[in-house]
Amino acid sequence: MQSLKCLSGVTNLGQKLLISSTRNILNTSRPRNVFSCRFKRTVLQASAASTSRTTDAFPSASIPQDPPFSGLEDVLLSYIFGNKKATEVAHLVWERVVRKGDTVIDATCGNGYDTLAMLKMVADESGQGRVYGFDIQKEALGSAASLLEESVNPTEKELVKLFLRCHSTMAEVLPEDTSVRLVAFNLGYLPGGNKTIITESQTTAEALNAAIGILMPGGLISLVVYVGHPGGREELVTVEEFCSKLPVEKWSCCKIQMLNRQLAPILVFLFRKCWN
Ligand SMILES: C[S@@+](CC[C@H](N)C(=O)[O-])C[C@H]1O[C@@H](n2cnc3c(N)ncnc32)[C@H](O)[C@@H]1O
Repeated sequence: MQSLKCLSGVTNLGQKLLISSTRNILNTSRPRNVFSCRFKRTVLQASAASTSRTTDAFPSASIPQDPPFSGLEDVLLSYIFGNKKATEVAHLVWERVVRKGDTVIDATCGNGYDTLAMLKMVADESGQGRVYGFDIQKEALGSAASLLEESVNPTEKELVKLFLRCHSTMAEVLPEDTSVRLVAFNLGYLPGGNKTIITESQTTAEALNAAIGILMPGGLISLVVYVGHPGGREELVTVEEFCSKLPVEKWSCCKIQMLNRQLAPILVFLFRKCWN
């Protein structure tokens, strides 16, 4: 059983790493229906006509012309039926929002799997897409760099910029007037690394604050929150409190949580509305 609950609602090491790479495994075709089922697609169709309207900042932002969440029924069903992990669901949600040529941010690079997934979503022959990645551990960025080295070609490598600095400073390294489609957090500790180096409530809240300032209408902040380590539950509370204070006219914030697996990672999405 699981619930989909709606909420109404520093370290600065300053070193920049540029990734170089050798091999291209980018797959530009995206699966639109990852979970085959016989259920009718009935949700969210109604919003199709209204998604082309923008409301405030980022007038040049490319607002999705079709429903940004089209196809999500399949993703949620696959999670409900136990066929997808939280990180896989997160990636599938990103795929419904992110466009080729977008600028996106991996706020917690770790071993680079999320960074690589984002690169696949934004990279195309135009060379416009950008992935900005952050981590406070050299070891993590080294691991992410290695993954990218073996996974993308030299042209694609130029699209990724990795920064050895706290994600709370993300806005400081972006070129001026950059608007961002996705900011993704995969909280907690580096898998296979030092389990005492974790994301902290205070800087996570600061990073969320920075993220909402640079996200374009129609953009998404995505969090995978882990509660199995000391500090994890407190961090979840911090994230929930942050979300619950965002104005409902501008933001749609939701949480997806397993109820019979107490330590399962929790998904939180903050969608910046581009209609109303
Ligand atoms: C769960 S791991 C991320 C996994 C990664 N996204 C992947 O695909 O492998 C969390 C990462 O957050 C990093 N981290 C912790 N505090 C941070 C901060 N303030 N700013 C940026 N990264 C941080 C950790 O060093 C760790 O590598």
